[in-house]
Amino acid sequence: MTSSAPQPGQTITPVRIAGTGSYLPERIMTNQELEKSVDTSDEWIVSRTGIRARRIAADDENTSDLASKAGLKALEQAGIDGADVDLIIVATITPDTLTPATACYVQQKIGALGAVAFDVSAACSGFLYALEIARHSVGAGAFKNALIIGAEKLSAFVDWTDRNTCVLFGDGAGAAVIVPSENGGGRVLSSQLGTDGAQAELLNIPGGGSACPITVENAPQKLATLAMQGREVFKHAVNAMKKASIDGITAAGLTAKDIKLLIPHQANLRIIDAIVERLEVNRDDVYINLDKYGNTSAAAVAIALDEAHREGRVERGDKILLVAFGAGLTWASAVIEW
Ligand code: UT7
Repeated sequence: MTSSAPQPGQTITPVRIAGTGSYLPERIMTNQELEKSVDTSDEWIVSRTGIRARRIAADDENTSDLASKAGLKALEQAGIDGADVDLIIVATITPDTLTPATACYVQQKIGALGAVAFDVSAACSGFLYALEIARHSVGAGAFKNALIIGAEKLSAFVDWTDRNTCVLFGDGAGAAVIVPSENGGGRVLSSQLGTDGAQAELLNIPGGGSACPITVENAPQKLATLAMQGREVFKHAVNAMKKASIDGITAAGLTAKDIKLLIPHQANLRIIDAIVERLEVNRDDVYINLDKYGNTSAAAVAIALDEAHREGRVERGDKILLVAFGAGLTWASAVIEW
């Protein structure tokens, strides 16, 4: 577990979010549609997860396309041209290709030809990992700004015959522009990151990497799709997100009462309810959109942040808490003064 908050004497200057953006593919896949292809029901999916629909990218729409569209919207809001972007970090577990990084395709698509670009693979916590890297990179003056994006085309890595997983995931992208904070402007107050590789087997895509290349022989096993021990992951998710939230709030010098809006990872409404109960946050102060989009992994918190921002749910000076959990296992939180 690492934890950081600006310390007295530390040379890193505060950073703020200058713009947000998101993009969801047009195609909506409802629970009713899934009822026709796997042995499931709208009732089961809604009562066990809260999910009612998810978005599915077109065949020719890659993760980098979703990421670029979200990124351009964030840049437009920040008033920064693609050509002036210094650093691009894409958080994804569904890259266009294993190499080069999806961020390299994004660099070309948004015309950020002078930017340094790379990916972060931290599953659902990836956007908050990217925020922490950007905070230090921009705060230390190594880059004048950063475009961070969480983007996923999970539909390409789902076994559409496995009811345990296919009902859960969706496609989408969310982005934020990180710049140095001016006097009186918003800033990232604290950030917590954690990893437990001992639990790597609980949630993974077992095939398609160097440990298990896809071959003609193993192709029928669909090893390049998401596999999850749901009940175990659920327990870890509640505990880790609760701890990351409390640690983040404390590191920011705040209490839960100071938090105007909680933006949690959007995997399961029951997980969110368990965290809200333990944190004693008002349920009305929690942003939820998983009913529309399902679990979009690294994109989830980023999309929710953008929607909350554009809906006027966050105003200058508000303290907001972002918290995520995912494969790795990984978890992360960030407390931001808007
Ligand atoms: O984003 C990364 C982090 N991911 C998460 O946080 C996900 C965490 N896990 C979860 O959200 C939940 O564990 C799930 C939603 C994945 C599953 O919910 P659950 O309440 O833990 O169900 P379960 O896996 O214990 O399965 C209960 C039953 C099983 O049947 P039996 O063995 O009791 O007869 C499953 O076969 O529900 C069955 N089931 C389904 N039934 C209808 C599993 N999936 C479905 C389905 N439709 N889609």
